[in-house]
Amino acid sequence: MSVAEIFETMAYGPAPESSSEAGRWLDAHRPALGHFIDNRPAPPREGEYIESVNPADGKKLIDVAQGGAADVDMAVAAARDAFESWSRAPGHVRARHLYALARAVQRHARLLAVLETLDNGKPIRESRDIDIPLVARHFYYHAGWAQLLADEFPGHAPVGVVGAIIPWNFPLLMLAWKVAPALATGNTVVLKPAEYTSLTALLFAELTREAGLPPGVLNVVTGDGRTGELLVAHPGVDKIAFTGSTEVGRAIRRSTAGTGKRLSLELGGKSPFVVCEDADLDSVVEGVVDAIWFNQGQVCCAGSRLLVQEGVEASLLAKLRARMERLRVGDPLDKAIDIGAIVAPVQLQRIRDLVAQGEQEGATIWQPSWACPTEGLFYPPTLVTDVAPASTLAQVEVFGPVLAAMTFRTKSEAVALANNTPYGLAASVWSENINTALDLARDIKAGTVWINCSNLFDAASGFGGYRESGFGREGGKEGLYEYLRPPWEAHAPRGAGETPAPPEAPATSQQTTEGARVTDSEHRDNDRAGKTLALSINTGDEPADDADGVTFHGSVSELTVVYRSPLTAIGTPPLTDGLTPDGAHMVWRAYPPIDRTPKLYVGGKQARPDSGYSRPVLAPDGRAVGEAGEGNRKDIRNAVEAARGATAWAAGTAHTRAQVIYYIAENLAARADELAGRLSSMTGAHPEEGRGEVEASIERLFTYAAWADKYDGLVHATPLRGVTLAVNEPIGVMGIACDDRYPLLGLVALVAPAIAMGNTVVVVPSERYPLAATDLYQVLDTSDAPAGVVNIVTGPRDALARVLAEHDDVDAIWYAGSREGARAVEQASAGNLKRAWIVDRPPRDLMDPHQGQGQEFLREATQVKNMWVPSGD
Ligand code: NAI
Repeated sequence: MSVAEIFETMAYGPAPESSSEAGRWLDAHRPALGHFIDNRPAPPREGEYIESVNPADGKKLIDVAQGGAADVDMAVAAARDAFESWSRAPGHVRARHLYALARAVQRHARLLAVLETLDNGKPIRESRDIDIPLVARHFYYHAGWAQLLADEFPGHAPVGVVGAIIPWNFPLLMLAWKVAPALATGNTVVLKPAEYTSLTALLFAELTREAGLPPGVLNVVTGDGRTGELLVAHPGVDKIAFTGSTEVGRAIRRSTAGTGKRLSLELGGKSPFVVCEDADLDSVVEGVVDAIWFNQGQVCCAGSRLLVQEGVEASLLAKLRARMERLRVGDPLDKAIDIGAIVAPVQLQRIRDLVAQGEQEGATIWQPSWACPTEGLFYPPTLVTDVAPASTLAQVEVFGPVLAAMTFRTKSEAVALANNTPYGLAASVWSENINTALDLARDIKAGTVWINCSNLFDAASGFGGYRESGFGREGGKEGLYEYLRPPWEAHAPRGAGETPAPPEAPATSQQTTEGARVTDSEHRDNDRAGKTLALSINTGDEPADDADGVTFHGSVSELTVVYRSPLTAIGTPPLTDGLTPDGAHMVWRAYPPIDRTPKLYVGGKQARPDSGYSRPVLAPDGRAVGEAGEGNRKDIRNAVEAARGATAWAAGTAHTRAQVIYYIAENLAARADELAGRLSSMTGAHPEEGRGEVEASIERLFTYAAWADKYDGLVHATPLRGVTLAVNEPIGVMGIACDDRYPLLGLVALVAPAIAMGNTVVVVPSERYPLAATDLYQVLDTSDAPAGVVNIVTGPRDALARVLAEHDDVDAIWYAGSREGARAVEQASAGNLKRAWIVDRPPRDLMDPHQGQGQEFLREATQVKNMWVPSGD
């Protein structure tokens, strides 16, 4: 049959995903996978193994270790050892590690997805398009929190060693929900995956080692509930983070009572899916598919109770049955499959038993006419009607593709039915009337309520339950508190056996740390010869001003060299293991000037200046180090047009913006040497200063990549019944003019917050030293920054700034420069009353993070829109 014929008939043809790479990974580990402790595979001390089976065909994939007491001891000890240095590492160091993990997940996304599907039975479509991308998203998001932690949670300290116990329904995603926030906040982890689905956790652990995560920071001990119990009971564990059944959650609550262990529980649910008669029923049908047939219904927040307003019951159920006839159950590796395999025989049996019990209680069972595969663990999508509110199928979490439908007449009856369960994890509400929908959402007791949608998750939004669905939140800012001790607690005297206190204040990025990846090299600086460097190791000690030589404590694998103000230079020579600081040397190379054809950067392309002129860029000794284009009014106009055209930037997600900014940082880091040399050749500054400016620019980019998806709005507490939503929106096209003090950082410190918030910019870089900006073109080109988001016009700063300030299509202008220039900009900005911000009034040092970055910049880059959303009739 030809493709055209298939297309005509829409006949089904399987589209299997290859499992060969996953097969090779399994082959490389046969006959059995051990635990992962201290960055090494560790066979179980007691020699016991359990089978990991592919639920789609019942075949054994491989054996995995059954963890015993000795294994758990070893893992906890490794995590405890690692805690000392990991908890003291500056946020930026941890941010780099988490960012590397996010990238590692993305690089190995297909292997992870296929292995997840083989092990769990979920459709490849879901593991590939939902689970794994969300895993990467969680590490990105929490890389951001690591970066911002010291500023946003001052005085807080990590909890210590976290025991994370996770279920089998989203094996890698549940790992990410716990591991990412735990590591970002400075904790170390012993993870116990579910016994049915340990493989992706072990593969992920290998990837963390490859990505350079220090030993002991993440340990994985596999095994069943017995291993979980050992971890819960272990005295060396400071916190348990658990997701699973309510029953086990209860047991853990009991066994940890009185021990002082912190606990968060994410348990089961029986979530209502409420459909009002004014709902769009076709959308509702698709919503139901997502709510209950996603992941075979093995979802804690599955919309397993369909509550329909009486008037539309018949039509909705008819549409639903028609849709169910077209769902496809089968080989999870088939990309055309909607519903895969149930994870284990015991779970399949549980579903069958509960449905049989429901039938006995008088419920009517409906399943599609087609036959389910008989090989493997499959269960068809099932609609149950005639369900009494107190019956088994209305009350018990089936954890399978089984939907129980009931009706209601009034809104209050809907609320009563929705809340008629001990759970309170999630709810979905469907109405075309937003007042009705919000009112229902307000009254339903659940940690998450989706309006006219279902099963949406994101790292930026906290997830967790009310009532018997557990406590604690995972994701969002609120989720971080689960892994942090508040300042008063962090400084309180500790009892025996508790975690040693981290330093009083979180380390700043200008301190060095155990765990940072730097060694030292020879320092050749005539001015300071013999004086060497003021160095500090982040042990909580005050850095010694003008220290001769190097102070050193503990086991430092790397050093960062930090000059005290006003110079800040951070060395990043290659690491030599075991090199002691005494024997370390820092060598700075001298760079010859790099000759490039000077151009402007407009609409994602290098553009010759309209004037056809260039101006020489001179070093302080009068040497010409290059040339830069002489931009004029027409170039500014072209640049503004390009910036205005880049509409997708603001319309896209904050996550996308964060990724691009991280990527810019990554590519800047790749060119760090070149840029440092460029800076020192232009300004005559010591190469270390240039290096420091590049490093500070990279960190500044990380800061704003982190902020991109965290500068949230607010829900205002107005007297309105409903919500008043304050949303931060980008201003639009921004003009930015930079001064000469920091040719690179001066630009990055202003452009990064502007674009992080969704603005597009036209920037006039340092007039005197513009070549660092022109070197950025390649960085932007290789960083997926869409054309027109950043436009760079070199030339006479004040004249160009004035053109920007006068331009009616520029929405805001930031200016750093002369007093006269500032005045001219403010005056000209009156034309369209654009916001003008004089960045250096009063003078500020952009190198200093307290002055040069933060929410002040974000506020200036946004405007607040308040949306009042009433509820009720
Ligand atoms: P479970 O709660 O027994 O398993 C979850 C995790 O806890 C697994 O890693 C398991 O090894 C571990 N565990 C089991 N007993 C433990 C103990 N005493 N101490 C410490 N850790 C322990 O869930 P199970 O048996 O796999 O599934 C049973 C039912 O639980 C499901 O049918 C479903 O109703 C519910 N469930 C809910 C989940 C959710 O996301 N809310 C996830 C998994 C199951």
